[in-house]
Amino acid sequence: LADVYLDNSATTRVWPEVLEVMAAVYRDQYGNPSSLHRRGVMAEKMLDTSRQELAGVVGCHPDELYFTSGGTEANNWAVFGLAGIRRPRGRRIIATAVEHPSVLAPLDVLAERGFEVIRVPVSERGELEASQLAVALTPDTVLVTIMAVNNEVGAVQDWEILLPLVRDRSPHAAVHVDAVQALAKLPLPSPGLVDTMSFSAHKLHGPQGVGALYVRKGTRILPLLFGGEQERKMRAGTENVAGVAGFALAARLCRERGQQLAPLLRELYQGLAGIPGFGLNGPVPGEGAPHILNVYFEGIPRGEVLVHALAERGVYASTGSACHSRRSRPSHVLSAMHRSGDALTGAVRFSLGAATTREEIQQAVAATAATVAELRLHSGKGSQRGTGGHGALRRDRPQGS
Ligand SMILES: Cc1ncc(COP(=O)(O)O)c(C=O)c1O
Repeated sequence: LADVYLDNSATTRVWPEVLEVMAAVYRDQYGNPSSLHRRGVMAEKMLDTSRQELAGVVGCHPDELYFTSGGTEANNWAVFGLAGIRRPRGRRIIATAVEHPSVLAPLDVLAERGFEVIRVPVSERGELEASQLAVALTPDTVLVTIMAVNNEVGAVQDWEILLPLVRDRSPHAAVHVDAVQALAKLPLPSPGLVDTMSFSAHKLHGPQGVGALYVRKGTRILPLLFGGEQERKMRAGTENVAGVAGFALAARLCRERGQQLAPLLRELYQGLAGIPGFGLNGPVPGEGAPHILNVYFEGIPRGEVLVHALAERGVYASTGSACHSRRSRPSHVLSAMHRSGDALTGAVRFSLGAATTREEIQQAVAATAATVAELRLHSGKGSQRGTGGHGALRRDRPQGS
Protein backbone atom coordinates (compact mmCIF):
# COMPACT_ATOMS: atom_id res chain seq x y z
CA LEU A 1 0.00 0.00 0.00
CA ALA A 2 1.13 3.53 -0.74
CA ASP A 3 1.84 5.98 2.07
CA VAL A 4 -1.08 7.97 3.39
CA TYR A 5 -0.13 11.60 4.00
CA LEU A 6 -2.46 13.15 6.58
CA ASP A 7 -0.20 15.95 7.76
CA ASN A 8 -1.47 18.65 5.42
CA SER A 9 -1.68 21.29 8.14
CA ALA A 10 2.09 21.02 8.43
CA THR A 11 2.59 21.31 4.70
CA THR A 12 1.08 20.00 1.48
CA ARG A 13 2.24 18.44 -1.74
CA VAL A 14 2.55 21.01 -4.54
CA TRP A 15 -0.03 20.50 -7.30
CA PRO A 16 1.54 19.41 -10.62
CA GLU A 17 -0.11 22.40 -12.34
CA VAL A 18 1.48 24.70 -9.79
CA LEU A 19 4.90 23.17 -10.35
CA GLU A 20 4.41 23.64 -14.09
CA VAL A 21 3.57 27.33 -13.73
CA MET A 22 6.55 27.87 -11.45
CA ALA A 23 8.87 26.02 -13.81
CA ALA A 24 7.64 28.16 -16.69
CA VAL A 25 8.48 31.32 -14.74
CA TYR A 26 11.97 30.09 -13.89
CA ARG A 27 12.47 28.93 -17.47
CA ASP A 28 10.94 31.72 -19.53
CA GLN A 29 9.81 34.64 -17.40
CA TYR A 30 12.88 34.93 -15.23
CA GLY A 31 13.18 38.68 -15.43
CA ASN A 32 13.29 40.99 -12.44
CA PRO A 33 9.93 42.80 -12.28
CA SER A 34 11.81 46.06 -11.67
CA SER A 35 13.84 45.78 -14.91
CA LEU A 36 12.87 48.07 -17.76
CA HIS A 37 13.31 45.57 -20.62
CA ARG A 38 10.84 43.09 -22.00
CA ARG A 39 11.72 40.30 -19.58
CA GLY A 40 11.21 42.65 -16.66
CA VAL A 41 7.86 43.75 -18.02
CA MET A 42 6.80 40.12 -18.49
CA ALA A 43 7.75 39.28 -14.91
CA GLU A 44 5.90 42.34 -13.65
CA LYS A 45 2.85 41.28 -15.60
CA MET A 46 3.04 37.82 -14.05
CA LEU A 47 3.18 39.40 -10.61
CA ASP A 48 0.14 41.58 -11.36
CA THR A 49 -1.86 38.68 -12.73
CA SER A 50 -1.03 36.56 -9.69
CA ARG A 51 -2.01 39.35 -7.31
CA GLN A 52 -5.36 39.67 -9.10
CA GLU A 53 -5.91 35.92 -9.03
CA LEU A 54 -5.22 35.71 -5.27
CA ALA A 55 -7.35 38.78 -4.62
CA GLY A 56 -10.21 36.92 -6.32
CA VAL A 57 -9.88 34.08 -3.81
CA VAL A 58 -9.51 36.40 -0.81
CA GLY A 59 -12.29 38.68 -2.01
CA CYS A 60 -10.28 41.89 -1.81
CA HIS A 61 -8.71 44.47 -4.12
CA PRO A 62 -5.33 43.40 -5.55
CA ASP A 63 -3.71 46.52 -4.08
CA GLU A 64 -4.60 45.27 -0.62
CA LEU A 65 -2.29 42.23 -0.95
CA TYR A 66 1.42 42.28 -0.10
CA PHE A 67 3.48 39.20 -0.83
CA THR A 68 5.74 37.89 1.93
CA SER A 69 8.01 34.93 2.59
CA GLY A 70 5.18 33.05 4.31
CA GLY A 71 2.65 33.04 7.10
CA THR A 72 5.20 33.65 9.85
CA GLU A 73 6.47 36.80 8.18
CA ALA A 74 2.93 38.03 7.52
CA ASN A 75 1.94 37.48 11.18
CA ASN A 76 5.11 39.16 12.50
CA TRP A 77 4.56 42.10 10.18
CA ALA A 78 0.92 42.53 11.17
CA VAL A 79 1.62 42.40 14.90
CA PHE A 80 4.64 44.71 14.93
CA GLY A 81 3.37 46.95 12.14
CA LEU A 82 -0.11 47.56 13.55
CA ALA A 83 0.89 47.85 17.21
CA GLY A 84 3.86 50.06 16.34
CA ILE A 85 1.84 52.62 14.43
CA ARG A 86 -0.92 52.75 17.06
CA ARG A 87 1.33 53.05 20.08
CA PRO A 88 0.40 56.70 20.73
CA ARG A 89 -3.26 55.66 21.13
CA GLY A 90 -2.74 52.92 23.70
CA ARG A 91 -0.73 49.90 24.71
CA ARG A 92 -3.30 47.18 25.23
CA ILE A 93 -3.31 44.16 22.91
CA ILE A 94 -5.81 41.29 22.97
CA ALA A 95 -5.08 37.86 21.49
CA THR A 96 -6.63 34.44 21.84
CA ALA A 97 -4.57 32.07 23.96
CA VAL A 98 -4.42 29.62 21.06
CA GLU A 99 -2.73 31.76 18.39
CA HIS A 100 0.12 30.32 16.34
CA PRO A 101 3.62 30.93 17.78
CA SER A 102 4.29 33.36 14.91
CA VAL A 103 1.72 35.64 16.56
CA LEU A 104 2.41 34.82 20.20
CA ALA A 105 6.19 35.27 20.06
CA PRO A 106 5.99 38.79 18.55
CA LEU A 107 3.43 39.62 21.25
CA ASP A 108 5.94 38.50 23.88
CA VAL A 109 8.44 40.92 22.36
CA LEU A 110 5.87 43.72 22.47
CA ALA A 111 5.14 42.90 26.12
CA GLU A 112 8.84 43.40 26.84
CA ARG A 113 8.60 46.77 25.08
CA GLY A 114 5.84 48.01 27.36
CA PHE A 115 2.62 46.77 25.75
CA GLU A 116 0.02 45.09 27.92
CA VAL A 117 -0.76 41.80 26.21
CA ILE A 118 -3.91 39.95 27.26
CA ARG A 119 -4.34 36.32 26.19
CA VAL A 120 -8.03 35.54 26.22
CA PRO A 121 -9.05 31.99 27.20
CA VAL A 122 -11.00 29.81 24.78
CA SER A 123 -13.77 27.28 25.26
CA GLU A 124 -13.13 23.55 25.68
CA ARG A 125 -13.56 23.25 21.90
CA GLY A 126 -10.96 25.92 21.23
CA GLU A 127 -13.32 28.71 20.23
CA LEU A 128 -13.16 32.29 21.41
CA GLU A 129 -16.32 33.11 23.34
CA ALA A 130 -17.93 36.53 23.00
CA SER A 131 -18.28 36.89 26.77
CA GLN A 132 -14.55 36.27 27.32
CA LEU A 133 -13.60 38.71 24.57
CA ALA A 134 -16.03 41.35 25.82
CA VAL A 135 -14.45 41.59 29.26
CA ALA A 136 -10.98 41.97 27.76
CA LEU A 137 -11.81 44.75 25.28
CA THR A 138 -11.24 48.33 26.42
CA PRO A 139 -11.40 51.71 24.63
CA ASP A 140 -7.57 51.95 24.67
CA THR A 141 -7.05 48.54 23.06
CA VAL A 142 -4.95 49.05 19.92
CA LEU A 143 -4.75 45.55 18.47
CA VAL A 144 -6.94 42.44 18.56
CA THR A 145 -5.61 39.29 16.96
CA ILE A 146 -7.83 36.24 16.40
CA MET A 147 -6.94 33.24 14.26
CA ALA A 148 -9.50 32.04 11.73
CA VAL A 149 -8.75 28.31 12.01
CA ASN A 150 -6.67 26.83 14.79
CA ASN A 151 -3.94 24.71 13.22
CA GLU A 152 -3.95 22.10 15.99
CA VAL A 153 -7.63 21.36 16.51
CA GLY A 154 -9.47 23.06 13.62
CA ALA A 155 -11.56 25.38 15.82
CA VAL A 156 -13.16 28.26 13.89
CA GLN A 157 -14.60 31.59 15.02
CA ASP A 158 -18.01 33.22 14.89
CA TRP A 159 -17.05 36.44 13.11
CA GLU A 160 -20.57 37.82 13.01
CA ILE A 161 -20.58 38.08 16.78
CA LEU A 162 -16.92 38.77 17.53
CA LEU A 163 -16.13 41.53 15.04
CA PRO A 164 -19.01 43.90 15.90
CA LEU A 165 -18.06 43.43 19.56
CA VAL A 166 -14.51 44.61 18.87
CA ARG A 167 -15.70 47.58 16.83
CA ASP A 168 -18.16 48.52 19.54
CA ARG A 169 -15.90 48.27 22.60
CA SER A 170 -12.51 49.05 21.08
CA PRO A 171 -13.10 51.48 18.22
CA HIS A 172 -9.39 52.30 17.87
CA ALA A 173 -8.24 48.70 17.71
CA ALA A 174 -6.87 47.17 14.54
CA VAL A 175 -8.03 43.59 13.95
CA HIS A 176 -5.59 41.00 12.66
CA VAL A 177 -6.69 37.54 11.53
CA ASP A 178 -4.26 34.68 11.00
CA ALA A 179 -6.05 33.02 8.10
CA VAL A 180 -3.21 30.67 7.15
CA GLN A 181 -5.29 27.52 7.72
CA ALA A 182 -8.51 29.04 6.39
CA LEU A 183 -7.72 30.45 2.94
CA ALA A 184 -9.52 28.60 0.13
CA LYS A 185 -11.05 26.20 2.65
CA LEU A 186 -13.56 28.28 4.60
CA PRO A 187 -15.26 31.64 4.16
CA LEU A 188 -12.94 34.35 5.51
CA PRO A 189 -14.22 37.24 7.58
CA SER A 190 -15.31 39.85 5.12
CA PRO A 191 -12.24 41.90 4.10
CA GLY A 192 -13.15 45.39 5.11
CA LEU A 193 -14.32 44.20 8.53
CA VAL A 194 -10.77 43.30 9.53
CA ASP A 195 -7.54 45.24 9.04
CA THR A 196 -5.06 42.53 8.14
CA MET A 197 -5.11 38.82 7.30
CA SER A 198 -2.15 36.49 6.83
CA PHE A 199 -1.87 33.66 4.31
CA SER A 200 0.64 30.98 3.38
CA ALA A 201 1.01 29.11 0.09
CA HIS A 202 2.34 25.79 1.34
CA LYS A 203 -0.79 25.01 3.32
CA LEU A 204 -2.81 24.80 0.13
CA HIS A 205 -0.65 22.88 -2.32
CA GLY A 206 1.54 25.83 -3.22
CA PRO A 207 5.27 26.29 -2.57
CA GLN A 208 6.92 26.77 0.82
CA GLY A 209 8.40 30.18 1.57
CA VAL A 210 5.62 32.29 0.03
CA GLY A 211 2.73 34.03 1.73
CA ALA A 212 0.82 37.26 1.77
CA LEU A 213 -0.58 39.88 4.08
CA TYR A 214 -3.90 41.48 3.27
CA VAL A 215 -3.94 45.08 4.48
CA ARG A 216 -7.32 46.79 4.25
CA LYS A 217 -7.33 49.96 2.22
CA GLY A 218 -7.03 52.84 4.64
CA THR A 219 -5.42 50.79 7.43
CA ARG A 220 -2.09 52.22 8.50
CA ILE A 221 0.75 49.81 9.16
CA LEU A 222 4.51 50.25 9.46
CA PRO A 223 6.54 49.01 6.47
CA LEU A 224 8.32 45.71 7.04
CA LEU A 225 11.49 45.86 4.94
CA PHE A 226 13.35 48.89 3.62
CA GLY A 227 15.66 49.30 0.67
CA GLY A 228 13.52 49.03 -2.43
CA GLU A 229 10.24 50.07 -3.97
CA GLN A 230 8.74 46.60 -4.23
CA GLU A 231 5.29 45.88 -2.75
CA ARG A 232 4.48 49.59 -2.81
CA LYS A 233 7.53 50.33 -0.63
CA MET A 234 6.11 48.31 2.26
CA ARG A 235 8.16 45.15 1.83
CA ALA A 236 11.36 45.79 -0.09
CA GLY A 237 13.25 43.02 -1.90
CA THR A 238 13.09 41.38 -5.32
CA GLU A 239 9.79 39.57 -5.57
CA ASN A 240 9.49 35.78 -5.60
CA VAL A 241 7.72 35.80 -8.96
CA ALA A 242 7.60 32.02 -9.45
CA GLY A 243 6.50 31.43 -5.87
CA VAL A 244 3.80 34.05 -6.09
CA ALA A 245 2.52 32.64 -9.39
CA GLY A 246 2.39 29.18 -7.81
CA PHE A 247 0.64 30.54 -4.72
CA ALA A 248 -2.11 32.27 -6.68
CA LEU A 249 -2.83 29.24 -8.85
CA ALA A 250 -2.75 26.88 -5.86
CA ALA A 251 -5.23 29.04 -3.95
CA ARG A 252 -7.64 29.07 -6.89
CA LEU A 253 -7.33 25.32 -7.50
CA CYS A 254 -7.71 24.58 -3.80
CA ARG A 255 -10.92 26.53 -3.60
CA GLU A 256 -12.26 24.71 -6.67
CA ARG A 257 -11.17 21.24 -5.55
CA GLY A 258 -11.52 21.26 -1.77
CA GLN A 259 -15.23 20.40 -1.66
CA GLN A 260 -14.73 16.78 -0.68
CA LEU A 261 -12.73 17.61 2.46
CA ALA A 262 -15.68 17.87 4.86
CA PRO A 263 -17.28 14.47 4.02
CA LEU A 264 -13.89 12.79 4.19
CA LEU A 265 -13.15 14.34 7.57
CA ARG A 266 -16.49 13.09 8.84
CA GLU A 267 -15.69 9.61 7.55
CA LEU A 268 -12.32 9.69 9.31
CA TYR A 269 -13.99 10.82 12.51
CA GLN A 270 -16.62 8.11 12.35
CA GLY A 271 -14.01 5.45 11.65
CA LEU A 272 -11.71 6.53 14.49
CA ALA A 273 -14.63 6.94 16.89
CA GLY A 274 -15.21 3.20 16.55
CA ILE A 275 -11.86 2.50 18.21
CA PRO A 276 -12.27 1.85 21.95
CA GLY A 277 -11.14 4.72 24.16
CA PHE A 278 -11.46 7.30 21.35
CA GLY A 279 -11.59 10.95 22.36
CA LEU A 280 -11.84 14.20 20.39
CA ASN A 281 -10.01 17.48 21.00
CA GLY A 282 -11.79 20.40 19.37
CA PRO A 283 -15.00 20.75 17.42
CA VAL A 284 -16.81 17.81 15.84
CA PRO A 285 -16.52 17.65 12.04
CA GLY A 286 -18.99 19.98 10.43
CA GLU A 287 -18.56 22.57 13.17
CA GLY A 288 -14.86 23.28 12.67
CA ALA A 289 -12.39 23.44 9.77
CA PRO A 290 -13.00 20.82 7.08
CA HIS A 291 -9.47 19.43 7.14
CA ILE A 292 -8.27 19.06 10.76
CA LEU A 293 -9.11 16.35 13.30
CA ASN A 294 -7.35 16.14 16.66
CA VAL A 295 -7.90 12.90 18.56
CA TYR A 296 -6.53 10.77 21.40
CA PHE A 297 -7.09 7.30 22.77
CA GLU A 298 -7.40 6.46 26.45
CA GLY A 299 -4.40 4.49 27.59
CA ILE A 300 -2.09 6.03 24.96
CA PRO A 301 -0.43 8.83 26.94
CA ARG A 302 2.18 9.91 24.40
CA GLY A 303 1.02 11.24 21.06
CA GLU A 304 4.47 11.01 19.53
CA VAL A 305 4.56 7.25 20.20
CA LEU A 306 1.35 6.83 18.23
CA VAL A 307 2.64 9.11 15.46
CA HIS A 308 5.84 7.08 15.15
CA ALA A 309 4.00 3.78 15.18
CA LEU A 310 1.52 5.03 12.54
CA ALA A 311 4.42 6.14 10.36
CA GLU A 312 5.77 2.59 10.52
CA ARG A 313 2.48 1.58 8.90
CA GLY A 314 2.83 4.27 6.25
CA VAL A 315 0.34 6.75 7.76
CA TYR A 316 1.72 10.22 8.39
CA ALA A 317 0.09 12.38 11.03
CA SER A 318 1.55 14.63 13.69
CA THR A 319 1.20 15.26 17.38
CA GLY A 320 -1.33 17.89 18.30
CA SER A 321 1.20 20.49 19.07
CA ALA A 322 2.84 22.93 16.72
CA CYS A 323 5.43 23.73 19.32
CA HIS A 324 6.59 20.37 20.56
CA SER A 325 10.23 21.02 21.06
CA ARG A 326 13.01 18.78 22.20
CA ARG A 327 11.63 19.21 25.68
CA SER A 328 8.26 18.05 24.38
CA ARG A 329 6.17 20.62 26.21
CA PRO A 330 2.44 20.01 26.15
CA SER A 331 0.55 21.98 23.53
CA HIS A 332 -0.36 25.54 24.56
CA VAL A 333 -3.55 25.13 22.53
CA LEU A 334 -4.74 22.00 24.32
CA SER A 335 -3.70 23.45 27.67
CA ALA A 336 -5.77 26.57 26.94
CA MET A 337 -8.68 24.26 26.11
CA HIS A 338 -8.35 22.76 29.62
CA ARG A 339 -7.40 19.36 28.28
CA SER A 340 -5.54 17.08 30.63
CA GLY A 341 -4.26 13.51 30.90
CA ASP A 342 -4.16 11.48 27.68
CA ALA A 343 -6.18 14.17 25.85
CA LEU A 344 -3.35 16.63 26.45
CA THR A 345 -0.25 14.51 26.01
CA GLY A 346 -1.60 11.78 23.73
CA ALA A 347 -3.12 14.05 21.08
CA VAL A 348 -2.62 13.22 17.42
CA ARG A 349 -3.63 15.51 14.56
CA PHE A 350 -4.79 14.17 11.22
CA SER A 351 -5.05 16.83 8.53
CA LEU A 352 -6.49 16.29 5.07
CA GLY A 353 -5.43 17.79 1.75
CA ALA A 354 -7.32 18.44 -1.45
CA ALA A 355 -5.91 15.20 -2.88
CA THR A 356 -6.91 12.95 0.05
CA THR A 357 -9.05 9.98 -1.04
CA ARG A 358 -11.64 7.75 0.67
CA GLU A 359 -9.32 4.79 0.34
CA GLU A 360 -6.64 6.71 2.23
CA ILE A 361 -9.09 7.54 5.00
CA GLN A 362 -10.05 3.86 5.29
CA GLN A 363 -6.39 2.87 5.32
CA ALA A 364 -5.66 5.42 8.05
CA VAL A 365 -8.56 4.21 10.21
CA ALA A 366 -7.46 0.57 9.87
CA ALA A 367 -3.84 1.45 10.66
CA THR A 368 -4.86 3.51 13.69
CA ALA A 369 -7.10 0.75 15.06
CA ALA A 370 -4.29 -1.80 14.70
CA THR A 371 -1.67 0.55 16.15
CA VAL A 372 -3.74 1.55 19.15
CA ALA A 373 -4.46 -2.11 19.94
CA GLU A 374 -0.79 -2.97 19.58
CA LEU A 375 0.38 -0.08 21.78
CA ARG A 376 -2.11 -1.01 24.47
CA LEU A 377 -0.83 -4.55 24.39
CA HIS A 378 2.74 -3.33 24.77
CA SER A 379 1.89 -0.89 27.52
CA GLY A 380 0.17 -3.74 29.34
CA LYS A 381 3.57 -5.40 29.39
CA GLY A 382 5.16 -2.12 30.46
CA SER A 383 7.16 -1.67 27.27
CA GLN A 384 5.35 1.19 25.55
CA ARG A 385 8.31 3.50 25.94
CA GLY A 386 10.35 1.31 23.65
CA THR A 387 7.88 1.65 20.80
CA GLY A 388 8.96 5.12 19.83
CA GLY A 389 12.52 4.36 18.84
CA HIS A 390 11.99 4.21 15.07
CA GLY A 391 14.77 5.62 12.99
CA ALA A 392 12.44 6.76 10.23
CA LEU A 393 11.21 9.86 12.02
CA ARG A 394 13.04 12.79 13.49
CA ARG A 395 12.50 13.60 17.12
CA ASP A 396 14.71 16.68 17.33
CA ARG A 397 12.58 19.13 15.38
CA PRO A 398 9.51 21.10 16.24
CA GLN A 399 6.42 19.45 14.84
CA GLY A 400 5.10 20.85 11.61
CA SER A 401 2.45 23.47 12.22
C1 LIG B 1 -2.18 29.06 11.78
C2 LIG B 1 -0.80 29.24 11.23
N1 LIG B 1 -0.25 30.45 11.20
C3 LIG B 1 0.97 30.67 10.70
C4 LIG B 1 1.74 29.64 10.20
C5 LIG B 1 3.10 29.94 9.64
O1 LIG B 1 3.10 29.86 8.24
P1 LIG B 1 4.48 29.61 7.45
O2 LIG B 1 4.84 28.18 7.65
O3 LIG B 1 4.17 29.95 6.03
O4 LIG B 1 5.50 30.53 8.02
C6 LIG B 1 1.20 28.34 10.23
C7 LIG B 1 1.98 27.18 9.76
O5 LIG B 1 3.10 26.95 10.05
C8 LIG B 1 -0.10 28.13 10.76
O6 LIG B 1 -0.65 26.92 10.79
